[in-house]
Amino acid sequence: GLPPHVKIVEVGPRDGLQNEKEFVPTDVKIEFIDQLSDTGLPAIEVTSFVSSKWVPQLSDHTEVMQGIKKHPGVRYPVLTPNIRGFHSAIAAGATEVSVFGAASETFSRMNINCSIEESMTRFEDIIKAAGNLNVPVRGYVSCALGCPYEGNIATSKVSEVSKRLYSMGCYEVSLGDTIGVGTPGSMRKMLESVMKEVPVSALAVHCHDTYGQALANILTAIQMGVSVVDCSVAGLGGCPYAKGATGNVATEDVIYMLNGLGIQTGVNLSKVMEVGHFICSALDRKTNSKVAQASFQL
Ligand code: HMG
Ligand code: MG
Repeated sequence: GLPPHVKIVEVGPRDGLQNEKEFVPTDVKIEFIDQLSDTGLPAIEVTSFVSSKWVPQLSDHTEVMQGIKKHPGVRYPVLTPNIRGFHSAIAAGATEVSVFGAASETFSRMNINCSIEESMTRFEDIIKAAGNLNVPVRGYVSCALGCPYEGNIATSKVSEVSKRLYSMGCYEVSLGDTIGVGTPGSMRKMLESVMKEVPVSALAVHCHDTYGQALANILTAIQMGVSVVDCSVAGLGGCPYAKGATGNVATEDVIYMLNGLGIQTGVNLSKVMEVGHFICSALDRKTNSKVAQASFQL
């Protein structure tokens, strides 16, 4: 049956902005996150403590982390690829981090410049250090439904990497359809495989909408018991190391669907739409949210 409550993880400030060519001013990022903090969202991914050469857009990670107003009930995870990123994140005040691996060997090398095996060693170091500080760690598995370099990815590979991240101590594993190629059929098969290794209560789905399948895939996942959904206001986003990847599914559209299903999120849809309007104006961009497009025409 459907879960009564779904946790929305807003990844707009990180996944949404990381691929923007023009540098988004730090004060705009901070204002964006502060507005999101006021919508009822339980978790907002703030930035990434990665190499500024690899992702120049997020080179102001420390300033953003230190500049935002943290609401008591909101979690503010940041991406950390290695122990150096972890220490920088903690120094900037982060209290939750995410490691990001992949089910594709080629994607791992293109995205974080190491093999899957080597990435697991790096993540173990982060998780150990995080444990000493009582910092929760989330884990991503990219290419869960396909890879921009390798095409199809075996569901056994996705469940193997997911299991390793979970056993290592990640409290939640987010399954990324990095290039949005999945369908409800492939989502179902992949989840059936992963749910044999990781409890469904510890799984999240992270859908990009490249092929227009994201909402259908998310509905499939929640029908299978998944109760954590990553999304991005206005459907912003893309991954610099996944050519052709468009935005994440729009937060507005997910909340609209969940409201219609009678599933609680605690998020105020009209407030989220206002934030979407703010960031689209700041980026001089049209929203990718169908719900926002429809509503602003009224
Ligand atoms: P590398 O080149 O192998 O690392 O990069 P290195 O140790 O050889 O260092 C290279 C340079 O980076 C050095 O600087 C280091 O100091 C520096 P230089 O000496 O050349 O001036 N460096 C760092 N700087 C800041 N913070 C750090 C850090 N570490 C090294 N933590 C590395 C390895 C992982 C750093 C690099 O590949 C990288 O930064 N990758 C980030 C890629 C990324 O952010 N991708 C997007 C996020 S993943 C995603 O979007 C998918 C997801 O949304 C889920 C989905 O959709 O599927 C999560
Ligand atoms: Mg992503």
